Amino acid sequence: MIPADKIEEVKQAADIVDVVADHIKLRRTGSSFTGLCPFHNEKTPSFNVSPSLGIFKCFGCGEGGDVINFVMQMDGVGFEEAVRTLAERYNVVIQEKTEDQYDPQQHLKDGIYHALRFAGNFFHQNLAESDDAEYAREYLKKRGYPWKTVRKYGLGYAPDRFDGLLKNAESAGINMQYLHESGLVKAREDESGYYDTFRSRLMFPIFNPSGKAIGFGGRTLSSDKKIPKYINSPQTPVYNKSEVLYGIHAAKNEIRKVGEAILVEGYTDVISMHQAGIGNVVSTSGTSLTAGQIRVMKRYGEMLLMIFDADTAGVKAAVRGISIALEGGMAVRVLTLPEEEDPDSFVREYGSEGFLELRKKETVDFLHFLVGLAQKEGRWQDPIERRKSINEILEAIAVMPDGLSRANYIQELSSISRIGDRALLQELEQIRNRIQKNARRTAERAAMRAGREEQDSRRPPSNNQGRQEAARHGEMEHYTGTSVQGAVSRIPADAGGKVEFSGNDTGAEARRHMNPPKRPGYEKELIRLMLTFGDKIIEFIGSYCSENDFEDPALRDCYRDIMTRFQNGDPVSVEVYSRREHPYPELLGEIVLQRHWVSEFGMKKRGVAIHRDASPVNTARGALKSLKIRYLERTREKFLDQYASASDEEKAEIQKWIRKATSEWNRHRQEPAETLFPDI
Ligand code: UTP
Ligand code: MN
Repeated sequence: MIPADKIEEVKQAADIVDVVADHIKLRRTGSSFTGLCPFHNEKTPSFNVSPSLGIFKCFGCGEGGDVINFVMQMDGVGFEEAVRTLAERYNVVIQEKTEDQYDPQQHLKDGIYHALRFAGNFFHQNLAESDDAEYAREYLKKRGYPWKTVRKYGLGYAPDRFDGLLKNAESAGINMQYLHESGLVKAREDESGYYDTFRSRLMFPIFNPSGKAIGFGGRTLSSDKKIPKYINSPQTPVYNKSEVLYGIHAAKNEIRKVGEAILVEGYTDVISMHQAGIGNVVSTSGTSLTAGQIRVMKRYGEMLLMIFDADTAGVKAAVRGISIALEGGMAVRVLTLPEEEDPDSFVREYGSEGFLELRKKETVDFLHFLVGLAQKEGRWQDPIERRKSINEILEAIAVMPDGLSRANYIQELSSISRIGDRALLQELEQIRNRIQKNARRTAERAAMRAGREEQDSRRPPSNNQGRQEAARHGEMEHYTGTSVQGAVSRIPADAGGKVEFSGNDTGAEARRHMNPPKRPGYEKELIRLMLTFGDKIIEFIGSYCSENDFEDPALRDCYRDIMTRFQNGDPVSVEVYSRREHPYPELLGEIVLQRHWVSEFGMKKRGVAIHRDASPVNTARGALKSLKIRYLERTREKFLDQYASASDEEKAEIQKWIRKATSEWNRHRQEPAETLFPDI
């Protein structure tokens, strides 16, 4: 318990405008301030802050309270944690933490934050002091990072041991459960304890906008190609990858000031740009850009400058990212770097003046970028290809929420393509109608179905404890008894292979409709069951699978999202998802509307009989069985691949995992689904 007078002291010391302004752009209106609400999506400001009363209130969504409430909401922390954050910031001294009112979910998060903070300090101190980190210190110096930078970004070094962090955390009294939940240690396969996730790596803490560590990226200093360059923290209750931007805590004020965010690819790109004096830079840390990340950026500024390498992989990602940013209502410009350069290497070589010069010369708006791309690829010269390119550009324009901007770009496109703006506008309207109709139809059908399903099924009550257990299982643990997945993640290529720009989030919507990707039926089936049958089934499925089991990236994201909502006690239903942002309505259409995608034949071939919906649990079992079998096949293949290029020492280890995966695979094929996935 924090004494009441301390709480009062913190409230007095904290400046609510200052705290809120860390998250949104505030404008003074008379004696108060207004801005766009950080808690819901809006275009006109209805979020108010009154410094004299010390409170905030959003007249759009109703959210309101004092500065402590704001931090609780914003950081997703409990009362005590919020008070402590503010106390730290405003130098109010509060004595040590004790247990009080018990909110398990909040407790879990606070515990994870605590473990992360400890680890951050440990890695940092280890980098500063340990003999083993000499090489890492040299490396940083060579890369041009003085200690000031190392400190500012909290960089650290994870020792080359399986118990470096573990031992230190243990003796500091850090709760192992939280350390495990934070992804910093993994459970040993024989269940005899834990071992460090990050070993012998340069550590980049990832901060939320308030500057709290929520995860880590770890870079190897070895040039061995078999070792993954980076491994990153897993998704945890405090680290939702699709909403995190690396560098945001350091960049937010500058973004607010200039109204623009610069998006780069890597950790070092962010740090080097900041160091060169270009402060408004963030990165997605290797994942593809998501709508959630755009929402976060947009809290601080409306403009986005995307920086891309000249290589083709970069360009592909660019085009997808552009759509997502446009759809999120940002004004998008693109800067392509010279061949063989990334932002880090570029500013180190040419400094900020070099960068500003290049930027001035080479920056184009997204429209000119897309046209230029078509020209470079020879698609602009041929009339038929050009027609297609123009259509693609129209699709990008079509997702922009603001009508004036759309009109503006149509004019521009008209003058570039020398096609009359009337014709372009007509085409645009058609695309927009199609998008809207599809979304509406999907939502309507889904809602209808949801109604029907709800009548059909009795949804037994589920207590919160059960939710968390299941959710935690789903995220962290793996299915009963075995931990082949845990094993997989020990093998480098799987644990930290560069996250692909898989286009799993959003994208050119209309294109997607014309050419829907093939997704495994049993994966869709599981998602469908979770959405239509509610808590009990979510708990059941969640306790037997983890997101890694899903092969299809969009469905994997969807699974993760469902589990997060479930864990937070938010409702999960077809209706909810039909009202969610892109791509959920579309995905939903695919999942709930097509009743025939589960190839009964294909299932039989795998030795799985699906009894649809007579008993949803049994249907789930059937689909889980397919999911696991396929997962184990993938795992085996991956091991076999790795085996070929492994060192002798690794070979023995990998062989063990192959055997394990094979026996699991056999077991899953042979045992009936009821024994594989008993009632929970
Ligand atoms: P890069 O390979 O460009 O690395 O990946 P980098 O950031 O430039 O690192 P340096 O400069 O070589 O030290 C860009 C980003 O992609 C993610 C990381 O976030 C990285 O910063 N990534 C890359 C991974 O997550 N895993 C990987 O194996 C590689
Ligand atoms: Mn680099």
